[in-house]
Amino acid sequence: MTKHLIAPSLLSADFRNLARDMEMINNSEADWFHVDVMDGNFVPNISFGMFIVEFMKSVAKKPLDCHLMMVQPERYIAEFRKAGADVITVHYEACPHLHRTVQQIKQTGARAGVALNPHTPVEVLQDIIIDLDIVLIMSVNPGFGGQSFIEQTYNKVKRVKSMILATGSTALIEVDGGVGLGNTKRLVECGADVLVAGNAVFKAENPAQTIHQLKNLTDKTYLV
Ligand code: DX5
Ligand code: ZN
Repeated sequence: MTKHLIAPSLLSADFRNLARDMEMINNSEADWFHVDVMDGNFVPNISFGMFIVEFMKSVAKKPLDCHLMMVQPERYIAEFRKAGADVITVHYEACPHLHRTVQQIKQTGARAGVALNPHTPVEVLQDIIIDLDIVLIMSVNPGFGGQSFIEQTYNKVKRVKSMILATGSTALIEVDGGVGLGNTKRLVECGADVLVAGNAVFKAENPAQTIHQLKNLTDKTYLV
C-alpha cells in the first residue's frame, strides 16, 4: 500500500512571510502545496489569483495542488496552468459541462480533479470517475480555513473508494477541511489518499513535526 500524501493549505500560512512558510514545507515531509483560489461568488470569501500562484511556483519545490472555488473555472484553467498549477481541481457544483472542463484541464497537461461540497452525493461522479485523477471530498463548506470537520465525510470517502474499485479508476481521494491529527488515521483507513491540512499545520507549535505526525500515523494518533 502506498503511503497517503499530505498537502498543507497555504491559506493558513502567514502571508507576510509566505516564502519562509513555503520553505518550511519544502523542507518537511509534506508532498504537495494546497492552493485555495476563492472568487467571492462561488464561495463567500476572496483569496488570491494566478499572480500569487505564479509567485508560489517560484518558491515551491513540490507540486501545486490548485483548488478552484470559483464559478466558470473553465475561463481560467489555461492561466492557472501557465502560472504553475500541477493539479487543477474544479467544483462539480460550478460546472454544468463537467466532462468538457475535465478534458480541458487534461489538455493543459495538469492532473484533473473534481471537488464535491458536503451536501453533494459522491454518486454524481459515477460516469466521470474513470476520467479523473483526483476526487476531492470537502469535509467543511468551502470558503474558510479553521472550520470543524463534518463526520459524514468518512462514509463518503468509503463510497468513493468502492466506486474507484468497481470502475477501475485510478483517481486519488483527497479530503479537505478540518483535517488534523484526530481524524487522519480513520480517513486513511476509509480510503483517503491525500489529506489537506491548513490550521492543523500552520497553527501548530511545530508545523514540521505535525506534518511528520500526519504522515507517519500511529495508534496514538487517534487520541490526539
Ligand atoms: C476551505 C479550503 C481548505 C482550507 C482548509 O474552503 O478549501 O483547503 O484551507 O483549512 P483547514 O485545514 O484549516 O480546515
Ligand atoms: Zn481547499
